[in-house]
Amino acid sequence: MTPRLAEHSKDRDRQLAQIRQSLGARSVVLIGLMGAGKTAVGRRLANWLDLPFTDADSEIESAAGQTITEIFAEHGEAYFRNGERKVIARLLDDGPQVLATGGGAYMKPETRAAIEAKGISIWLKAELRVLMKRVGRRDNRPLLSVDDPETVMKRLMAERNPVYAEADIIVESREVPHEVIVGAVVDALAAKLGCDAIPRKSRRKKVH
Ligand code: S3P
Repeated sequence: MTPRLAEHSKDRDRQLAQIRQSLGARSVVLIGLMGAGKTAVGRRLANWLDLPFTDADSEIESAAGQTITEIFAEHGEAYFRNGERKVIARLLDDGPQVLATGGGAYMKPETRAAIEAKGISIWLKAELRVLMKRVGRRDNRPLLSVDDPETVMKRLMAERNPVYAEADIIVESREVPHEVIVGAVVDALAAKLGCDAIPRKSRRKKVH
């Protein structure tokens, strides 16, 4: 079933239409660490913008006919990264859309360049505590299937955050309802694309 579109004030609707128009064929690409909320925020953002949502990890799994855990276990990380690069390059030709990428994707210079050429990148930036709380809910991430996942996450933050910081837009992914983060992403997109800001009083009417 297609999710019902979120209902917004007229000002917000006008702004969302402007964003869609300014995007043209470009994709809105969510980047950031595991647990940053790329999929959850991405789905809702696509709903607000009335654009298709694509999850790169799911596309990689479909292309391989295996789960990410199986790909890592059977073929190793380098093989996964190569598949990830190819799948994201292909997906970026299908814009406009909201595209959520796996946490490591943006680290590949080729993928960064492709995202810059065909999309607007948004780094969902979150604190260690928030990330750990969110990833703790599932065990589908091979990089964190270790005795001390927090040490791995700290290392990944140190390595990756300076690279994620190259994104066009940075939005803090806090412990608030996802719709609040989506609102912040939309405001930042509007500012970046030169669309109208919406007056405070009509920020959000009703959300499903
Ligand atoms: C990875 C993140 C995962 C997935 C894979 C590797 C990473 O995606 O691509 O397990 O290197 O950070 P999410 O960020 O969507 O969890």
